[in-house]
Formats: sequence, C-alpha cells, structure tokens
Amino acid sequence: MNTENIQLYFAPMEGVAGYLYRNTYNEIFSGIDKYFAPFISTSPNGIRRLKEFKDILPENNKGINLVPQLLSNNAKDFISATEELAGLGYEEVNINIGCPSGTVISKGKGAGFLGDLDGLDGFFDEIFNKTYDKYNMKISVKTRVGLYDEDMWQDILEIYNRYPISELIIHPRTREDLYKKPVRYNTFEYAMENTGLKLCYNGDVFTKAAYKSICERFDGINAIMLGRGILKNPCLPQMIKEDKEIEADKIFEFHDKIYERYKDYMSGEVPVLFKMKEIWLYMQECFENSEKMIKKIKKSKNLREYDRIIQEMKEEYIEKI
Ligand SMILES: Cc1cc2nc3c(=O)[nH]c(=O)nc-3n(C[C@H](O)[C@H](O)[C@H](O)COP(=O)(O)O)c2cc1C
Repeated sequence: MNTENIQLYFAPMEGVAGYLYRNTYNEIFSGIDKYFAPFISTSPNGIRRLKEFKDILPENNKGINLVPQLLSNNAKDFISATEELAGLGYEEVNINIGCPSGTVISKGKGAGFLGDLDGLDGFFDEIFNKTYDKYNMKISVKTRVGLYDEDMWQDILEIYNRYPISELIIHPRTREDLYKKPVRYNTFEYAMENTGLKLCYNGDVFTKAAYKSICERFDGINAIMLGRGILKNPCLPQMIKEDKEIEADKIFEFHDKIYERYKDYMSGEVPVLFKMKEIWLYMQECFENSEKMIKKIKKSKNLREYDRIIQEMKEEYIEKI
C-alpha cells in the first residue's frame, strides 16, 4: 500500500465552507491537494448573476486549487454554466449527484437524479458530447450509491462507466442514509472491482486511523475526500500528511482569523455569533474536557460573552495539547 500518492481533497460543504472559510483554512493549514466548492444550481439564465457565483470567483480564491461544483439535471444549463467556468479559467467541473436535501430531491437533482437513470444517461451523453472537447473541461462526478437502497448501484456504475469521467468521488451511502447511517463499504468495494475510472473515497474519515484503514482496504484509490473530519479537527490533513499532532495554537489562529473576517463581512453581532457557534458545533471534540466551555459558547448571547469564553479556552489549551 502506497499512501504517499493518495491525494487529499477538501469536500464541498454548502453553508459552512464558503470562500472565507476556505481562504482562512488554506492560509493556516497544509495537506489539502484540491478544494471543492459548494454546489451552484444551474439556471437557464446562466450562473454569473447568482450570489453563489462570488464563491468561485478567482479573485476570491487566490492560491487555491479549486474545483467548482454544479447541481443540475438540465444538460443545456449545465453546458452554459461550464462555458462560464471555462471563461474564468477553470479546467475541471464537478457534478453533484449526492445532495440529499428534500428540496433538491423533489426537483430530481442531486441524489434525486439517481431515481431517473435514463435521464441521467441522456444528461451525461449530452454534456460529454458537447462540453468535453469544446471547453477542454474535465468533468468529475460526486455521487451517492442509490436513492433508497443500494440495489441500483450496479446499474448506476454501468452508466458512469460509459463516459470519460475524470474522477468518480463516491460517498458510499444512499440518499435515505443521509449522513449518519453506516457507510456501505461493500458498494465502494464493488466500484473498485467494476470500474476503470479514477476513484476517490469520501465518508466518515474523521481520524488518522480511519484514513489508514481506508487506504489499506481500498488500495489503488487516487484520493480521499475529507468533509466533517476537517470541520471537527482542522489539523486532520496535516496530521495525516505530515505526521503532525493536533496544534491548539493553529486552531485558535484559524479561529481568530475567520472570526475577524466574519465580523468584517457580516452586518451585526447576531449572524457572526451564529457562524462562530456553528464552527464550535463541529470543533467541540477538538479539545479534551472542554464540554463546559463549549456549553458556555452555545449559551453565549453576545460577542463580549463569546470573547471571554474563547480567552478562557486559549489559556486552558494553548501549549497544553
Ligand atoms: C454542512 C454540509 C454541507 C454540504 N454541502 C455539500 C455540497 O455543497 N456539495 C456536495 O457534493 N456535498 C456536500 N456535502 C456532503 C459532503 O461533501 C460529504 O460528501 C459528506 O459530508 C460525507 O463526507 P464526510 O463524512 O467526510 O463529512 C455537505 C455536507 C455537510 C455536512
């Protein structure tokens, strides 16, 4: 098993890991080879006027190896969005065939597209014929393994196998599994045996031990994508790649920087406090015996209170880990 060549990807996480989070993260931590932006829904009017477009503007992502992601089941809209992305200089676009949200599913998009395999095949046929050569754009796919159960996985993979997908990123859960039901490792194993496409594993890699176990189990994969593992412990990629330990000073440096950016970017204390509480919701297990302080963060009513708790945490944890 050669783990040196396995790339680490930063998962798209809509609402949490936008360009402010991404930039701050990239300035402080190392270990990520490629970042995936949260999805942008295509529209008949193109994507340039959408507010999400700001997230992928090159000037907001300097020095970041970024792949934009599109959510679409309409080939025409997808192709025009791809043209816009090519115009910005992007060379890879990712298709979201995994989003489990009810509003997305009801429109037959995201994981909902897995309920219409003929439609999916037709969509791929059109986008690969019309964008691949014209825009010289690589198309990667991020997918779940089914809508309700894994019975269709064989058929789904057969469709993917017909197209020159640059990389297949598999989150081995169905839509019904959402984020917490057990990962269906057997479906990833099936893909290892039944596709020649470049593969990336995604799902529940929250520790270095979990990373190693995936590398051993799925020897030959190209990449592992980390999502909540990074939100829970931002040091995870460098712990994996550089054999480092968790570094409290870096976590607080990241915290301080993103806190300042949210304060500059958002108007009023309430949304900033909300964002910071969200960050701690994920990072709550970063530090041992921090339950009381985390509880105080959750209960804090304004930024002055919040600042006091953070100061307390810094005194407790910096140089202690
Ligand atoms: C808050 C949140 C937002 C997400 N947004 C997206 C998204 O925009 N596009 C996407 O393909 N997946 C999205 N996902 C799914 C993740 O990219 C990833 O597939 C999933 O969390 C499993 O990986 P993990 O166990 O490493 O977190 C999101 C997940 C979370 C928790």
